[in-house]
Amino acid sequence: MTNQDFAIAIMAAGKGTRLKSKRPKVLHEIGGRALLLHVIAAARTIVPAEQIYCIIGHEADQVRASVTHTGVSFVLQAEQRGTGHALQVLKADFELSGKTPPENLLVLSGDVPLIRPETIAAVRDAHLREQAAMTILTAVPDNPHGYGRVLRRKEDSPEVLSIVEQKSLTPEQIGAREINSGIYCFNTRALFSKLDALTTNNAHGEFYLTDVAAMLVAEGRRVIAVKAESVNEVLGANTIAEMMHLDAAMRLQNAHRLMSEGVTIFRPETCVIDSEVTVGPDTIIEPYVQLLGATQIGSDCRIRSYSVIQNSTLGDAVTVRNGSILDSAQVADKAILGPYCHLRPESNIGEGAHIGNFVETKKVTIGKGSKANHLNYLGDAVIGAGVNVGAGAITCNYDGVHKHQTTIGNNVFIGSDSALVAPVTIADGAYIAAGSCITEDVPSGALALGRARQTTKPGWVARKKSRNSTQS
Ligand code: UD1
Ligand code: MG
Repeated sequence: MTNQDFAIAIMAAGKGTRLKSKRPKVLHEIGGRALLLHVIAAARTIVPAEQIYCIIGHEADQVRASVTHTGVSFVLQAEQRGTGHALQVLKADFELSGKTPPENLLVLSGDVPLIRPETIAAVRDAHLREQAAMTILTAVPDNPHGYGRVLRRKEDSPEVLSIVEQKSLTPEQIGAREINSGIYCFNTRALFSKLDALTTNNAHGEFYLTDVAAMLVAEGRRVIAVKAESVNEVLGANTIAEMMHLDAAMRLQNAHRLMSEGVTIFRPETCVIDSEVTVGPDTIIEPYVQLLGATQIGSDCRIRSYSVIQNSTLGDAVTVRNGSILDSAQVADKAILGPYCHLRPESNIGEGAHIGNFVETKKVTIGKGSKANHLNYLGDAVIGAGVNVGAGAITCNYDGVHKHQTTIGNNVFIGSDSALVAPVTIADGAYIAAGSCITEDVPSGALALGRARQTTKPGWVARKKSRNSTQS
C-alpha cells in the first residue's frame, strides 16, 4: 500500500463557539502557531500537501489566507452542520470534481493540535493491519468530560460498538473513560456509503461523524480503537482554558527539547519558548524568558530573566541582561545587551558591542566593540567599530516627513547628550563634544562643538541672596 491510497481531511470549519472569540478557533495559537498549522505540519509528514483537504467554513477566507502557503487543498463547508456534514461536503466535492477518492481517508480535527506524526502513522498502520472500515484514535484522560466516549465490544477487545457524545451518555455509560480523539482512519468507500444516512436527531441538532461507527458495526463492518501513547497529544482545544493547557504543555515540551540539546533552563515552566526556536549548547536561560518565532541563539549565551526575544539571531557567548526586548535583530558573538534595551527590526549589533540600559535601536548597524550604554536612541544609522556613544546621545532621524541616515565612522567619540541631526556623517576618529547639536558633517579626526558657550558669573549666588533679603 502506498501513500497514493491515502488522503487526509482536516476538519477546520467550526466556529469555536465555546471560545467566545472573534477569531476562528483553528487560528488561535498555541506554542506561537495557529492550531491548524500544527495539524497541517503533522499531516504533511504522512502525505504530500496536495493530498491534504482542509475543510473550512467559518471565516473561511481568513483561515485560507493563514494556511495557504502550506500548499494544502481547501473544501468549503459554507454552513457548518456538524462533523458528519463536513465529510458530506468533502464527498460532494469529490463527486463534483470527478476526482477518484483515495482508498483510505485519515480524518484529523483542526482543534486537536498536539497530534504527533508517529501517532497518525500508527492509526494508519493499525487500520491496514486490522483491515478495518473505521479506526478511531482514543485516550483515557483523567477527566473525560465533554468528549465523545468510545464503547468497546469487550474491555480488552480492539472492536468498537459505538461512539456516544457526552450529552447522549446514559447513566450506565457516564462512567466510560475512553474518549474519542476526533482522529480517525476510514475506508473511504465505507465512510461515504454511510454519510447520507446520518441524521440530526441528537442533542446538538448536528450531523455527527461519530454516528458512522455504530452504522458500520450494524452492517457487520470492523470498527476498531487504537489508544494514543500520550493523553496530551489528543486533547482538544475547545475553550481558552483548554488551549492554554495545551500551550503550556507544548512550551514545556520545547524547553525539554532544548535541555536535551545541552541548554540549561532554570524553572522551565516559567519560560515561553516557541517550537521553531533553536539554542546552542551551554547557553543558560533564566526564569521568565520568552523566546519567540524563528529565534536562533548560539552557544554559551546567557539570557537573563524577563527578556523577550522574537525572530532574532544571536551568535555565541552573547549576554542579554534582564528585561531586554529584541525584535528581528541580529546580534554577533560576545555582544552584551541590556538591562532594559530595545532592539527593533533591522538592528545589527557587531561582535562584542555593548548596548546598555534604556537604549533603543532600529535599522542600525553597530560595529565591533562599539558601545552605547545609557539612554540612547540610534535609528537609521551605520556606526563603525570602536565607537563610544555617550549617555543620552541620540540620532535625530526623522524630519517629520522623511527618515534620514546618520553615518558614524570607526573610533568616533560621541559626547553625552549630543543630538546628531540626520542626514549627517561623522568621519573616523572624530570627537563630538558633550551636549552638541550636530547638523553638519564632521571630518575625520576633528572635534565638533555645537552648543552655546558657557558663561560663569562668580559670586552670583551670594549677591542674589543679599538682594532677596533686602527686599523682604
Ligand atoms: C468532537 C467529537 C467528539 C470527540 C471530540 C474530540 C463529533 C460529533 N464529536 O467533538 O466525539 O471526543 O471531537 O476533540 O464529531 N468542524 C467542522 N465542521 C462542522 C463542525 C465542526 O469542520 O460543521 C470541525 C471543527 O472546526 C473542529 C472539529 O471539526 O476542528 C471538531 O468539532 P468540534 O465542534 O470541536 O467537536 P467536539 O465537540 O470537540
Ligand atoms: Mg473539539
